[in-house]
Amino acid sequence: MRTDTPQTIYRKDYTPPSYLVDTVELGFDLDPARTVVANRLTMRRNPDSAQREIELYGENLELVALRMNGKTLGESDYRIEGSLLTIPNAPEEATLEIETVCAPELNTTLNGLYTSNGSFYTQCEAEGFRAITYFPDRPDVMAKYTVMLRADKEKYPVLLSNGNLIEEGDLGDGRHYAKWEDPFKKPSYLFALVAARLVCQEEKFKLADGREALLQVWVEEGNLDKTDYAMQSLKNSIRWDEERWGLELDLDRFMIVAVGDFNMGAMENKGLNIFNTKFVLANPRVATDVDFQGIEAVVGHEYFHNWTGNRVTCRDWFQLSLKEGLTVFRDQEFSADMVGTESGRAVGRIDQVRTLRQAQFPEDAGPMAHPVRPDSFVEINNFYTVTVYEKGAEVVRMYQTLLGREGFRKGMDLYFERHDEQAVTCDDFRRAMADANGRDLSQFEHWYSQAGTPVVRAETRYDEIAKTYTLTLFQSCPATPGQSSKFPFHIPVAVGLLGADGRDMPLVIDGQERGTTAVLELTAAQQSFVFENVQEQPTPSILRDFSAPVVLDYNYGDADLLHLFSHDSDPVNRWEAGQRLAMGRLLKLTGEVGVGASLLLDDTFLMAMGKMLSDESLDPAFREQCLLLPSETMVAEQIEVVNPLSIHLARQFVRANIGTRLREELLAQYHANQTPGEYSPDALSIGKRALKNLCLAYLTAAQDEEGLRLAQEQFDNAGNMTDRVAAVSALLHARAPNVDQVLQRFYDEFEDEALVVDKWFAMQASSATTDVSGVRALMRHPAFNLRNPNRARSLVSSFCANNPVQFHAPDGSGYAFWAEQVITLDALNPQVASRLARAMDRWRRYTPELQEHMKKALQQVAGQQRLSNDVREVVGKALAN
Ligand code: TRP
Ligand code: ZN
Repeated sequence: MRTDTPQTIYRKDYTPPSYLVDTVELGFDLDPARTVVANRLTMRRNPDSAQREIELYGENLELVALRMNGKTLGESDYRIEGSLLTIPNAPEEATLEIETVCAPELNTTLNGLYTSNGSFYTQCEAEGFRAITYFPDRPDVMAKYTVMLRADKEKYPVLLSNGNLIEEGDLGDGRHYAKWEDPFKKPSYLFALVAARLVCQEEKFKLADGREALLQVWVEEGNLDKTDYAMQSLKNSIRWDEERWGLELDLDRFMIVAVGDFNMGAMENKGLNIFNTKFVLANPRVATDVDFQGIEAVVGHEYFHNWTGNRVTCRDWFQLSLKEGLTVFRDQEFSADMVGTESGRAVGRIDQVRTLRQAQFPEDAGPMAHPVRPDSFVEINNFYTVTVYEKGAEVVRMYQTLLGREGFRKGMDLYFERHDEQAVTCDDFRRAMADANGRDLSQFEHWYSQAGTPVVRAETRYDEIAKTYTLTLFQSCPATPGQSSKFPFHIPVAVGLLGADGRDMPLVIDGQERGTTAVLELTAAQQSFVFENVQEQPTPSILRDFSAPVVLDYNYGDADLLHLFSHDSDPVNRWEAGQRLAMGRLLKLTGEVGVGASLLLDDTFLMAMGKMLSDESLDPAFREQCLLLPSETMVAEQIEVVNPLSIHLARQFVRANIGTRLREELLAQYHANQTPGEYSPDALSIGKRALKNLCLAYLTAAQDEEGLRLAQEQFDNAGNMTDRVAAVSALLHARAPNVDQVLQRFYDEFEDEALVVDKWFAMQASSATTDVSGVRALMRHPAFNLRNPNRARSLVSSFCANNPVQFHAPDGSGYAFWAEQVITLDALNPQVASRLARAMDRWRRYTPELQEHMKKALQQVAGQQRLSNDVREVVGKALAN
C-alpha cells in the first residue's frame, strides 16, 4: 500500500541484470504467523552488464541476516530504498546468505507466500517472489533451485515444490521435512511451494519417448470425486503437445494443486501448477458444460506453458504476450482438436471472436488501451489483460494464417532451437517465424507496437463486361493514449465470393487459381484486389474465420446478409451475417425505445432466425451460436451516447418477440435436443444442451406459460448442473412468481459446494431483477466473504460488470457501491480490487447525467490517501483528460 506517486516503468529503459544467479538454495520453516526463509544464492557478474552493484528486491520482509562470501554485512555495506536492496562494490563472484521473516497468515493479497484454509501456497508471477525473499526478481535471471521445506507434520502432511522430491523424513519434534530439486534453470516467478493437508489422484503416464511420468492432481479431502476431468485433460494435453508440436514433458513428475483462494485462473509454476479450484474441480452434479470446457482449456494452457513460457521465457514483463498470446493460441488449438469436427472447431472460433469483441475491443478503445507489447506500465499486474492474452493469441494466429500450418510449425521449431532455456522477446519470436520461412515480417511488428482496433473498410465493384470483381480495402486505426497516428498494419484478409446459388466461386487473382478462400495481404492504407473470370455479381464473404482482429466496415444490405446467413461455407462468417442482422435491429430499436416509439420486429429477421433454429442439418451448437443475440455490452460499443436501460429494453423486446413468434419451433427444438442418459461433456451433448436452454430462455422471456412450466420441471428433474443453472436463470430473468423458493432450494442443496454457491451469487448479481439494495442484502448473507476472490467476483464484480441496467441506475447508487467496494477490497487484495475498478473504463460514453455520477465515484476512489499502485493506475488513467 503506497501513499507516494507511483512510478512508471518504460520498456525502452531495459538494461541487462548486473549479476546472474547460478544456484538458489531455499530453506523454509513454515509457520503461519512467522515463517523463516533462509536463502543461499551463488551469483556472478554479468559480462553483458556495465553495472557493478548487486540489486535485490524484497517486499514486506523482515531482514534478519545478510552475509556475503561468509561475512555478515553491516548497515553501511548495503542500501535499502523502497523494495530495492543494493550492495555496491561486490566482487566478481558472490555467495549471498539471506535470512528473512514473513507472515503468511496476514497476507490477504494472495501474492507471495499466503495461507488458504489454513494451508500454505505461493503465487510468484509477476513479482511475488520478492515477498518471499530478497532476490534479483526479474524473469531474465534464471537459476537452479533446491528447496528444503520444514513444517508441522499433522497440519501440513503434504510438502511440495518444483521438480523432483529427493529426500523426506521426520524432524522428531512433530515436524517433518521434504527436499525438492528442480533440474531446470528457471526465473523466480516460476517458483512454488505448497504445504497442506491434501489428497491426490495420481497416475503413471507413458511419454512418447518411453519414459514414465507421475501425474498428480492434489485437492482437499472430499473433492477427490471431482478430479477425473482435470486428470484426463492433463493426459490429453501431454499427448497433444507431443503430436502437434513434437514437445515432450521434460520432468519425471507433474503436479496440479487446487486452492480455493486464488487471484487468477491458474499458474504454470515448473512441475507444480497451482490452480484456482474453479479450473480443477468438476463432476456433473456441481459443474456446468462451460466449467468442463474451462478446465480442459486451463489445464492445457498451464501445461503448454512448460515450453512456451518456462523453457523459453520472457526477457522482461513487457514481453508478457510472448508467452501468454502464444500459450492462449496453443490452448485454443488444443480445445479445437479435442472437439475434432470442423463444425465444432468453428463453434470454438465463434466463442473466441465473441470474447474479443465483448472484452478486448472495448479495452482497446478505452483509457487502458495498450499494445500487445506495452511500452510502459505502473503496475505489471494490471497488464494481464485481454489485449495481452486474447489479442496476443490473434497475433500468433495471424502468423499461421500468413505462413500456413507447416510454415508456422517450422517457425516454432526454429524458435525452440534458437532459444531453449533463454529469456527472449517478441521480436525474437517474429524473427524465428520470418527466418524459418524466408519471409520479411518487419511490417508485422506494428501488431505488437500499436494499440487500438484497426478498421478495414471495404468497397466492391463488379464489371459485367470484363467479368472482374474489384475489392478495395482501406485500413485505419483510431488514436489511443500516447499514439495519435498509426502505421498501416500487415493484415491477412481471408475472402470468398458466393454466387447466387450460394456456392463458393473459384477464385482467380492475377491469373492464379486461389481455391475458394483467398488470404489477401493488406499492407497499405488502400489496396485493390481484382478477381478475374467472375461470371455474375457475387456476394463477398470478407474476413473469413475472423482472419484478423479488426472491425470490418462494409455496407452489407439485408439481402446480402440473408444470403450469407443461409449459405456461407465459412461458418464464422455465416454466424457473423446473423449477428449483423441482429445488431441492425437492436440499434434501431434502442433508438426507438429512447423516444417512446412503439416497437416492431420485422418478419424477415424472425424468419431467418426460425429457419436457422430448425435446420437440423446443422449442429445444435452452431445453431445456438447463431440464435444468440449480441450482448448489451456489444450493442453499447456501437452507440455514441449510451443509455443502458434503452439497450436492455430493446434487447428484451427482441428476446420476447423471438419467444412469442417462434414459439412452436422453440418448443420443438427444446424437446428435440434433450440429452437423456448419463451426462457427458462431449461437444454434441454440450451443443444440444446449449440450444435447448436457449430455447427455454426465449420462451420464458416471452412469459410463455408452457415455457415457464418446462423451466420449473427442468429445475425439479435436472440430472446435471448445466440444466439446473439454465432453469434457475430462466425463472429468475422471467421474474417467475416462485423464484425465491427455487433459489432457496438450490442453495440448500449445494451450500457445501463453494463453487456452486458462487454460481448462486453470480446468477442473482447479474440479473436485472437485482438492484443495488438486493446486492447489499446478498453481501450480508452468511456465505458471503469479500476476502475470497471467487466469492467477491461472483457477487460484487458480477453486479458491476454483468448487470448494466442496475449498475447504471440513474441515481448513481451503483457507482457509489462500486467506489465503496473498490476501496474496501483494495486494502485486502489490490489485484482483485483493480480488476473491479475497470468496470468504469468506458464512463465517458454514457449519458451526461450518468457520466457526472461516474466521474464523482472515480474521483472518490482516486482521492483516497492510501491506495495500491494497481487501483491508482486504473482510476488515474480513467480520469486522465
Ligand atoms: N501466468 C498465469 C497464466 O496465464 C497468470 C497468472 C496466474 C497470474 N496468477 C497470477 C498473473 C497472478 C498475475 C498475477 O496462466
Ligand atoms: Zn498463461
